[in-house]
Amino acid sequence: MTLDRRTFVQSSTGVAAAVAGFPYVRRRQDDRRVRMGLIGIGDRGTGTLRLMLRRDDVDVRAICDIDPEAIARGREQLDEAGVTDYGVYDQQEDDFRRVVERDDLDAVLIATPWEWHAPMALAAMRSGKWVAVEVPVAVTLEECWELVETSEETSMPCMMMENVCYRRDVMAMLNMVRDGLFGELIHAQCGYQHDLRFGFKFRPGVEFGPNASGPARWRTQHSVTRNGDVYPTHGIGPVSNFLDINRGNRFVTLTSTASKARGLHQHIVEHGGADHPNANVEFKLGDVVTTVLSCARGETVVIMHDTNLPRPYSLNFRVQGTKGIWMDDLRSVYFEERSARPHRWEEARPYQDEFDHALWKRYTSDAEGAGHGGMDFFVLHAFVESVKRRVPPPIDVYQSATWSAVSALSEQSIALGNHPVVFPDFTAGKWATNARDFGLSDEF
Ligand SMILES: NC(=O)c1ccc[n+]([C@@H]2O[C@H](COP(=O)([O-])OP(=O)(O)OC[C@H]3O[C@@H](n4cnc5c(N)ncnc54)[C@H](O)[C@@H]3O)[C@@H](O)[C@H]2O)c1
Repeated sequence: MTLDRRTFVQSSTGVAAAVAGFPYVRRRQDDRRVRMGLIGIGDRGTGTLRLMLRRDDVDVRAICDIDPEAIARGREQLDEAGVTDYGVYDQQEDDFRRVVERDDLDAVLIATPWEWHAPMALAAMRSGKWVAVEVPVAVTLEECWELVETSEETSMPCMMMENVCYRRDVMAMLNMVRDGLFGELIHAQCGYQHDLRFGFKFRPGVEFGPNASGPARWRTQHSVTRNGDVYPTHGIGPVSNFLDINRGNRFVTLTSTASKARGLHQHIVEHGGADHPNANVEFKLGDVVTTVLSCARGETVVIMHDTNLPRPYSLNFRVQGTKGIWMDDLRSVYFEERSARPHRWEEARPYQDEFDHALWKRYTSDAEGAGHGGMDFFVLHAFVESVKRRVPPPIDVYQSATWSAVSALSEQSIALGNHPVVFPDFTAGKWATNARDFGLSDEF
């Protein structure tokens, strides 16, 4: 049955289902509190725990990690916040199962290495918990499908915590897209371009795996075994909102091409010497991976993945339509009908101020000091408010699966010699009739 649906959906040309998207209920229930467990208190989980403890509508009831140092960090934060009534799960890799089985939790937030996301999210949904998962929500296509199907079967929502959807300029651009400044959208670009050779923590260290610390313990291994865009969601999440993906539009095909891999090897040789054992490691992940998507409405999207070469950080956003263009790297926009000088860029910042999103206007002070320029406040806020109101989160399981699936599809395309692959429709046709929902209110 399951396979039938997957096969049908993958080969379907997009017949619309008659069912519209779940309507959001906008009502305030400020007296409600959300009882949460946190799984994974590494670099990311530590910051998230701080934000959870800052809220007056969240009770942290359980923390879980396999690293004693991480647990100590968690305990310290909870102590400082005066929280005493919480469980600690730190004995073994599958201790998370005891967390999700607790009957005094509404939700769990998962901030562990990628390979743990799907197993943990699935267990949590099956135990009747609302689930928030760090990016990406899954590694394989099978996992993406299983998350969608399990969310449908259990009626438990699963939200991927894609914080960049809430970046202030990104939300202003979303307003501008919806106000028609760009005209009809034609093309978008995005990516994850971030020199992560620091992932070999304590740079200029050259260790990864069990000998390393932080994300180098697990993340670098993906560069050894995989060749594809392994981290697409910071870019494709916002772009999907611009393009109404799964809300009237959808991705149809994907092609991916990888360059040769040199960056990590060179880093090891430079900092550890040609005799270092890691100098013999063969890295599979091309240093620059370029992915092209086509959309049902005729737009194209280019996604870049570039984490193993020296470079300044950039998410590479570009939005282009019949009336104008935004280029994030240039911090510039151009609108044929509005820009003062033809063919000349103008600064994007005044537009950000003019089209500032209602959420940002409302919560600027709450977001102050939250990670990544404040956007981390919004993504947690969105999840917590959805749980309180018992409404679908603004990034639902279909978006989470779609955005994460880019990785596995990109690996497939590269393995096939850059051949196009069909993008699965996780919504089973509902993409055509689902109503737009992201960023519509000033509440969450
Ligand atoms: N949205 C963002 O801006 C952002 C930023 C950084 C990281 N992330 C994501 O957050 C996640 C965590 O990344 P990180 O940088 O914090 O990595 P990290 O290695 O610093 O932290 C991961 C933690 O998970 C723990 N862990 C591993 N296996 C576990 C298990 N079976 N049970 C319980 N705990 C386990 C580790 O001990 C570690 O403390 C990743 O998915 C990453 O992609 C997102």
